[in-house]
Amino acid sequence: MILERNNFPNVRQITRELNRSGLKDQIGDFKGLIAIYQLRHAGANEIGTKLENLDDEYSVNYDHNPIHHMEERMKSVNSLLRKVQKKGYPLTIESIDKNIHDIAGIRVVTNYIEDIYKVEDALVRQSDVTLLKRKDYIQDPKPSGYRSLHIVVSVPVFQSNGVFDVPVEVQIRTIGMDMWASLEHKLRYKTNVPADKVAKHTASLQKYAGELYDIESRMQEIFRDLK
Ligand code: GTP
Ligand code: MG
Repeated sequence: MILERNNFPNVRQITRELNRSGLKDQIGDFKGLIAIYQLRHAGANEIGTKLENLDDEYSVNYDHNPIHHMEERMKSVNSLLRKVQKKGYPLTIESIDKNIHDIAGIRVVTNYIEDIYKVEDALVRQSDVTLLKRKDYIQDPKPSGYRSLHIVVSVPVFQSNGVFDVPVEVQIRTIGMDMWASLEHKLRYKTNVPADKVAKHTASLQKYAGELYDIESRMQEIFRDLK
């Protein structure tokens, strides 16, 4: 398919409908939020294409491809509003645009630990990509055991009304770190698990995160030795 339509709400249509439903005062906010989502999604497309091109290039030029797979997600409006409240930012369009940099997110899952930094470097070195924020939860794991490299980059997006620098969050982690995070996320968000069970699994997962890191480091050594 050449053109994939994303079905963003149409601003004119929403304006008409809100006018009719008596929600006139909210029109500006709705329009602003849709504009942010459309622009951030365009940013994710730009970064996604860059990563796909890198993935192709690794396949053509090298006998090892650092990227295992990639995922893209847009933050739900629900979790956006929760984050704004949790961080104590004003609940306005300007504040969301200024303070929230992870409305568009891309997750890159790599084969080995050193691949994480190869991908980061190849992306951040591109002349139109600017590194805005970097948190290395591999050097400095979260108390839960969570490991990942989180970077926020900005990329120019060309629209009919000008060019805009758009932030996109890129989370880069190995297959092992990704597997761990999926299971730990389930434990964290399942509300019907008894507290003692949660505590037991939390402790085990914290230990396994370290063990997985050791195993992935040792497997990387074997891989290096074979090269
Ligand atoms: P801010 O977005 O500025 O708060 O910082 P950040 O992105 O570096 O870290 P944050 O703690 O917000 O984590 C963002 C995302 O990382 C979360 O939505 C999760 O997907 C993931 N994450 C962070 N900590 C954990 C954790 O302990 N367990 C799991 N499973 N995922 C985590
Ligand atoms: Mg974040």
